[in-house]
Amino acid sequence: MHILVTGGAGFIGSHTLIELYKAGHTALVVDNLYNSNPEALRRVAQIIGVDEIPFVQTDIRDREGLERIFATNHFDACIHFAGLKAVGESVAKPLEYYENNMNGTFVLLDVMRKHGCKNIIFSSSATVYGDPAIIPITEECPKGHCTNPYGQTKSMLEQVMMDLQKADPEWNVVLLRYFNPIGAHPSGRIGENPNGIPNNLMPYITQVAVGKREQLGVFGNDYPTHDGTGVRDYIHVVDLATAHVAALQAITRKAGLAIYNIGTGHGYSVLDVVNAFIRVNGVDIPYQIKPRRAGDIATCYCDPAKAERELGWKAQFGLDEMCRDSWNWQKNNPNGY
Ligand code: NAD
Ligand code: WQD
Repeated sequence: MHILVTGGAGFIGSHTLIELYKAGHTALVVDNLYNSNPEALRRVAQIIGVDEIPFVQTDIRDREGLERIFATNHFDACIHFAGLKAVGESVAKPLEYYENNMNGTFVLLDVMRKHGCKNIIFSSSATVYGDPAIIPITEECPKGHCTNPYGQTKSMLEQVMMDLQKADPEWNVVLLRYFNPIGAHPSGRIGENPNGIPNNLMPYITQVAVGKREQLGVFGNDYPTHDGTGVRDYIHVVDLATAHVAALQAITRKAGLAIYNIGTGHGYSVLDVVNAFIRVNGVDIPYQIKPRRAGDIATCYCDPAKAERELGWKAQFGLDEMCRDSWNWQKNNPNGY
């Protein structure tokens, strides 16, 4: 298939491009490079062994820009990664987050519809479950209250796409609810490249390991978990990438609306991750217990059985490989791209 990949220069998009090409698909990337570097696409091309990944630097809110792309390309589906994703920043800049994520998706869906491309895979998030009512979380678990504008955009955009699919059953909408993606391509050539102080656990750990940060702050050790620190379902980004290739099957068999949790089904605490990182990589990670971070929940991990049953997809990598590959990327690229 020929796939439009919005946000393809970013962390998850760049890894997904590799798996798409490996599976025989081709792609065109649309990205405004707000949170990414075109070097990622050059490296993806090298890894795949092609001259270049077709790329247009455009904002998806730019209707004319998108129209031009659709006028000269036929896409079988769109994988829609483009969006702003920093939880804390979304609290400080709600209007910017709502405007970018909502309007970007409205324009994209409208242009897709106009050009008869009614197949979309959307990057949703475990955040839509809020503080989950059931652990492990199944897709039937009711959506919860999102404590930040970022999460609200994911939840609302899910609803927009569900309503669109209901109104016009020609649409195939696959909502992938990612848990906590970490790791990097095993080549160490591409990986996560956050600007400024990392918000997420693994990039913070790797920046401590490489000497850019003094120590990790562990946000709370009084949660009702096995060691008191927060428990999450970390998933290797390469597994997450292959989930998108598998999700194309739902489009091929015209599944209509399909929703999948994309995680491993295992919950690891902050200290489990720190200890695995130290053991696997032989580097020390000094840390200090800090107060809880506002908006955090104790435990979040999924039941990924539906994706295995319906898509034949199951995560292949464990926490050790996630720690190994995150470090391999960071130590080879201490300053990112
Ligand atoms: P990322 O920031 O690395 O990639 C997103 C890309 O979208 C960036 O390259 C950015 O420049 C681009 N972009 C943003 N707004 C755009 C616009 N208006 N027009 C064109 N391009 C635009 O993020 P990521 O970690 O690769 O996440 C990809 C998607 O997955 C996002 O939608 C994110 O919300 C979602 N998601 C991420 C996580 C995570 O923990 N990383 C978890 C769940 C869901
Ligand atoms: C993981 C654990 C922290 C940093 C976020 C978004 C979610 C999704 C994935 C996009 C928690 C602890 C963290 C640190 C720490 N993104 N921690 N010290 O919060 O589960 O999910 O990213 O959709 O929407 O909310 O991920 O990596 O920030 O935190 O102790 O410096 O690590 O408290 O228990 P989170 P995270």
